[in-house]
Amino acid sequence: MKTWVLYYSRGGNTKKIAEAMAEELEVPKAEQVPPAYPPENVQLLFLGTGIYAGKPDSKMVEFIRTLNTDRVKNAAVFGTNGGQDTAIETVKSLLREKGINVIDETFSCKGKYFLFINRNKPDSEDLKAAKVFARKVYDSLKA
Ligand SMILES: Cc1cc2nc3c(=O)[nH]c(=O)nc-3n(C[C@H](O)[C@H](O)[C@H](O)COP(=O)(O)O)c2cc1C
Repeated sequence: MKTWVLYYSRGGNTKKIAEAMAEELEVPKAEQVPPAYPPENVQLLFLGTGIYAGKPDSKMVEFIRTLNTDRVKNAAVFGTNGGQDTAIETVKSLLREKGINVIDETFSCKGKYFLFINRNKPDSEDLKAAKVFARKVYDSLKA
């Protein structure tokens, strides 16, 4: 099953989660949006976002605009946040507007920002939980 992991990460937190998921599923690499090549016939896209002033970054929104069901069939959304994970819901709705099947379950965890907020997050437990999520979604579609 052709699987990609893409993310938008300003501070590196969401990137860490994306890389853990890619490692678990043996996807060659996780890549920041927009990717070097647009996805084609991707069966499962894991799409990750941080949240910035209540929203996903505009680069993420722009990237989703380029998608369609020939590019991506199913998507699972994940993210890191300071305490409020509403960017995930925004990303889910934008994907659904494109006709893409969006998996209900999502993964989110806290991510550090400024100097001291959520220090050491995501931590090794978060990375483990992200891998469990990725495996579960992948296996549910493969079955
Ligand atoms: C400029 C800025 C704005 C942020 N706004 C929010 C916010 O509105 N809500 C929230 O929960 N977290 C907010 N955060 C925290 C980030 O979403 C959190 O640190 C996340 O892990 C960032 O992901 P990244 O490191 O992948 O960019 C903000 C962080 C920054 C730097």
